[in-house]
Formats: sequence, structure tokens, C-alpha cells
Amino acid sequence: MKDIRNIVILTGAGISAESGVATFRGPDGLWEGHRVEDVATPEAFFRDPALVQKFYDERRAKLRTVHPNAAHQALAKLDAAWPGDLLLVTQNVDDLHDRAGSKHLLHMHGELNSAWCLACDARSPFDGVMATEPPCPQCGQPGCLRPDIVWFGEMPYQMERIEQALARCDLFVSIGTSGAVYPAAGFVQTARHYGARTLEMNLDPSEGSFHFHESRMGRAGELVPDWVEEILQNV
Ligand code: OAD
Repeated sequence: MKDIRNIVILTGAGISAESGVATFRGPDGLWEGHRVEDVATPEAFFRDPALVQKFYDERRAKLRTVHPNAAHQALAKLDAAWPGDLLLVTQNVDDLHDRAGSKHLLHMHGELNSAWCLACDARSPFDGVMATEPPCPQCGQPGCLRPDIVWFGEMPYQMERIEQALARCDLFVSIGTSGAVYPAAGFVQTARHYGARTLEMNLDPSEGSFHFHESRMGRAGELVPDWVEEILQNV
């Protein structure tokens, strides 16, 4: 590990599964009983805003009942102790990495605890209910807030910063993601293109498993703390 200085870590729903947050692609193919296209597209919001707001209000309320697990905590420990550059890119819209204490963290698919005002374009911290059409905390306009979530067909956040980090990293690690959704699913190829070593940790092989130099299969709550101890041994 001596030649590793810069690390990019990508996480997906699998890292929060042991905290009790549902993954997106369960055996029934539904996300909390809904087809993804009925709740996670701009078209769905245009067609039935009340359904979409209720869905995300429920997900947001659920956050208050769950806690970071050993995998989130281990990554926060690594974040604090790592002497080189480290960027944690999460596809998750929960706040479990934040609550575990990760600082070099970027939510590429947005956050449940953020509201986007379609009247003034401001983003504001938000932990309430949107279905009741509260006013925007910044401009005061009622009924204009939408979940600050990147839906299918929308551009993920901070892609430029992510691409730069991928181009400079020596190690790319993917944890708890099915590798079904681009551009995140393509990060392993970008990192390899620039010469990084690549490692995946997942319950079962992801769709792009063959792209990784190494794959460790199992629960994130066990694999990630072991890996963090391993990598910190040589610091
Ligand atoms: P998925 O639900 O597609 O995949 C979760 C992955 O985690 C699967 O490969 C599981 O095998 C694995 N997994 C489950 N439990 C695990 C555990 N305890 N430890 C380790 N791995 C485990 O979720 P994502 O890949 O995150 O996008 O989905 C990507 C994106 O698709 C999401 O960010 C979301 C969704 O549509 C948007 O909302 C834009």
C-alpha cells in the first residue's frame, strides 16, 4: 500500500443496507413498493407531484430512525486519518456518511435533507415535509420546493470535481453498489484508464465486477472496517 496516496471511494445503497435503509434494486425490482420511473424522474414529478413528495417525505422521515453502521464509521475514521487526498463520492441520498463524520464527502445524487426551490433556484437544508407545500426558506414562495435529488435523466452533481479526483487517484474503491447506473458505474473504468488500482466490496458481484483488479464479497459492515484497518496499518 506504500505507493497509494490519493483515494476515491464510491458508495451505493448497499453500505446503508445494514442500517435498515432499503436498497434500490431488491429481488422484486421495486424501491419501497414503487417502480423507479414512478417516483424518480422529472416526468413523474410533473405528472403526480403529490405522490413523489409523499414518497420522499417518507424516506426523509425514515432517516430519523436509522443510524450509521460500522462501514460508515470506518470510512469516517479513514477520512480523518488518511495523509493523502481522499474523496468519498456517495450515490446515497441518506445522511449516514455525514452523521458518521466523513468530511471529504460529495453527494452526487443529491440529498433527502436538502430542498431545491424551483422559483429562486436556491438549495436549503430541509428536514420537514414537502407535501404540505411549505414556503422556500430563502425566497418565501410556497409550493415551489422539490426534493434536491438527482432523478433519472438529470445530471449528477459535481462531475467535474469527481473526474479530476478519478484522474489523480492511485486507488479507487467501490462499496455496495450494483453498478447499474451511469455515470457512477463507469468510474472504475475512468480510474483504471489513469492507472489506479481498483477494489470492489459488495454482497455479490456488481454488473461491472470484471473491471476491478480485486473483488471482496460480503457485508459492508464487516468488509469495510477490515479493509480500513489494513490500509491504515502502513500509514
Ligand atoms: P442498488 O440497490 O442498485 O445496489 C445495491 C448493491 O448493494 C447490490 O449490488 C447489493 O448486492 C449490495 N448490497 C446489499 N446489501 C449489502 C451489504 N450489507 N453490504 C454490501 N453490499 C450490499 O443501489 P445503487 O447501486 O446504490 O439513483 O443504485 C444506484 C442508483 O440507482 C441510486 O443512487 C439511485 C438508484 O436509482 C438515483 O436516485 C438517481
